[in-house]
Amino acid sequence: MKILCLGGAGFIGSHLTARLLKERHTITVVDQDHEKIQEWVGLDNLRIIKEDIRRPDWGLMELVQDADVVIDLIAYANPGLYVKMPLEVFRLNFTENLKIAEACVALKKRLIQFSTCEVYGKTPASFMNGHLLEADDPLHATFSEDTTNLIMGPVNKHRWIYASAKQLLERVLHAYGLEIGFNYTIIRPFNFIGPKIDFLLSENDGIPRVFSFFMDALLSGTDMKLVNGGHNRRCYTYIDDAVEAIYRIIMDVNGVCNREIFNIGTPGNEISIRELANKMQDIYVRRYPRTDAPLPQIVDVSGEEFYGKGYEDSDRRIPDISKAEALIGWKPQWGLNELLESTMDYYVDHVNTTQAKNVSPLKETHI
Ligand SMILES: NC(=O)c1ccc[n+]([C@@H]2O[C@H](COP(=O)([O-])OP(=O)(O)OC[C@H]3O[C@@H](n4cnc5c(N)ncnc54)[C@H](O)[C@@H]3O)[C@@H](O)[C@H]2O)c1
Repeated sequence: MKILCLGGAGFIGSHLTARLLKERHTITVVDQDHEKIQEWVGLDNLRIIKEDIRRPDWGLMELVQDADVVIDLIAYANPGLYVKMPLEVFRLNFTENLKIAEACVALKKRLIQFSTCEVYGKTPASFMNGHLLEADDPLHATFSEDTTNLIMGPVNKHRWIYASAKQLLERVLHAYGLEIGFNYTIIRPFNFIGPKIDFLLSENDGIPRVFSFFMDALLSGTDMKLVNGGHNRRCYTYIDDAVEAIYRIIMDVNGVCNREIFNIGTPGNEISIRELANKMQDIYVRRYPRTDAPLPQIVDVSGEEFYGKGYEDSDRRIPDISKAEALIGWKPQWGLNELLESTMDYYVDHVNTTQAKNVSPLKETHI
């Protein structure tokens, strides 16, 4: 299959590219970066185009025309950025992504669009401000693709622009499907984790995602900061499980993915961010004994202090994955401990290798 993979050098994209190469597909990756797929440069079935898709006339139509399927992973996908530059997040995640979708519509190509679990927003428990009976029942936080309402915060909590832009894009794809039979599939990832998830200390993107922030703190001894008490809960999914689901959607052997939305996540891996900090400390002490460095302190900070004004967050989100199970026969395999251990091993190994080469591991390493 000829696959156009936009954003194919990011965290998810680099793992997906690896899988597509292994399966001998022909892949064109368009990304403004290519460090995470550097190791495959020169392979016959991989073409890498280093491009900023915001540049006018960058050749989108020709590339879409040449592909059997288009996968769009390009987005700003970091909460620090939603607060810092909401307009730019809207422009990339909606306006530029819409151009990709409309190229697929015009050329009648199948599109696999990455959305987010953040489109579900908050739980009814948080929305009802403590007035919901049995508020902690997981049923209130279990989200299904085609029946759950989407609850966003107020406009002045501008962090929701990310989820709103993704939601609007989903609604436009749905409308194209409805009106002209456009063939698309939407994927809503629930907190994927694994090697290469982020740079440890990002110079350009500010604050990395939670796992990388905690990993960085463990390796450097700086504070592990818990935003608003770390009470929010997430369901982490290992990247290998995620790639398996994405690959099944791409191949769609039973022809069941057209105009469907899929939650891809691991309901059994729920953990609060506070528990995650503690668990990562436990794993770190058990797996990588170091006598020279004290464990970082776990300290509380407000969301506003950490991310800036306009921050708010989803309190809890558990994926209902019954659709993925029924239509593509997918079930995640990785438990929480093993996915954390595997990802932490990667970062510790990488930093050790970098130190052996005698360069500053955290400042100069882009992982
Ligand atoms: N990782 C997750 O758990 C998760 C959760 C929810 C949603 N998603 C969605 O999945 C998709 C991929 O996420 P990811 O974690 O791999 O993110 P990522 O940031 O690692 O990857 C995005 C890629 O897009 C590229 N990109 C950004 N702006 C670009 C531009 N203007 N021109 C060309 N390339 C550009 C980046 O260089 C990067 O390689 C995103 O749409 C994201 O919103 C991911």
